Amino acid sequence: MRAVTFSRLGGPEVLQVSELPEPQPGPGEVRIRVAAATVNPTDISFRSGRQLTTAQLSEMGVLPPYIPGMELAGVVDAVGEGTNWRTGDRVMAIVNPRRPGGGAQAELVVVPAASVARVPEGASLEAAATLPMNGLTVRLALDRLALKPGQTLGVTGAAGAVGGYAVELGVNEGLRVIAVARPQDEAQVKRFGAKTFVPSGDSAIRGLYDAAPGGVDGLIDAAVLDAAVLPAIRDGGKLATVRGFAGPSERGITIEPVRVASYVHNQNALDRLGHLVAEGRLTLRVAETFPPERAADAQRKMSAGGTRGRLVIVFQGATR
Ligand SMILES: NC(=O)c1ccc[n+]([C@@H]2O[C@H](COP(=O)([O-])OP(=O)(O)OC[C@H]3O[C@@H](n4cnc5c(N)ncnc54)[C@H](OP(=O)(O)O)[C@@H]3O)[C@@H](O)[C@H]2O)c1
Repeated sequence: MRAVTFSRLGGPEVLQVSELPEPQPGPGEVRIRVAAATVNPTDISFRSGRQLTTAQLSEMGVLPPYIPGMELAGVVDAVGEGTNWRTGDRVMAIVNPRRPGGGAQAELVVVPAASVARVPEGASLEAAATLPMNGLTVRLALDRLALKPGQTLGVTGAAGAVGGYAVELGVNEGLRVIAVARPQDEAQVKRFGAKTFVPSGDSAIRGLYDAAPGGVDGLIDAAVLDAAVLPAIRDGGKLATVRGFAGPSERGITIEPVRVASYVHNQNALDRLGHLVAEGRLTLRVAETFPPERAADAQRKMSAGGTRGRLVIVFQGATR
């Protein structure tokens, strides 16, 4: 089977397409013939070595060639013992690429059955691939913030993949969402249901504070502003961070560093996200598709910023 791989850490040029042995599902696992796998900021961190060195990966049993990608959609192609999935089911899945079996950007991917959910009614496989990782990230962030209907949720980077889901899921839960994004993204984040829009930039934190006098009850910081957002949060409020920022905090604010790896087996949560899509309450966005041979271009485009919606690697041979 073909996969996007890299055998050394470095720039986008280390990415290539390799022929690898077909993985086989064990008990409790399914094999998915992948139609689409997304490109996310974490793939760039993995490939560049920003998170883990080759030695650290090796200690975890993760050896080259590495396969990037954390979410995918396709068709169940083989099942191990003890799973309820059937060959031919259209599914989406989350996978941590820092494991011996590699990540999502391959023609065939084996994952635990609990990492898989049905593709939402009416969604293409390309669109469905954009949901598992970032949707579960926001689910986890909201679970950690534990806000009640009527409370205020601030979201930075609100036009991005994490930010967009944060606005929509927050609105779905009855929160009053105040969204911070680039000025050109105002119409989009308002369509997501944000009550108030605050343009990003030097006065964004002041703007957030003014929109929620006393400070927001909770904030999901998808733009990774870290300590800079603390003044926008009320005394004793909560901050969900996505790149490891854990403090120091101030005024009794709890900081919750979110790591979606802890939700990769949360099938109920993934299922519920799919239902929200089918009900039209969560929006899937595909910016552009790329063949696996152009994975490096997709990563370059992601790194350049300004992309709205996800970049998706499409495997043409997959059954749709
Ligand atoms: N911890 C976890 O488990 C986990 C899981 C998923 C994602 N993440 C992290 O979450 C972050 C967001 O991911 P994503 O996929 O949503 O990225 P994305 O789609 O690129 O969205 C990020 C958004 O934030 C905006 N932004 C970035 N820096 C900004 C700044 N300084 N001021 C104002 N706006 C800014 C971007 O605007 P421009 O495009 O115009 O720059 C973009 O709209 C990434 O750092 C990712 O690694 C973590």
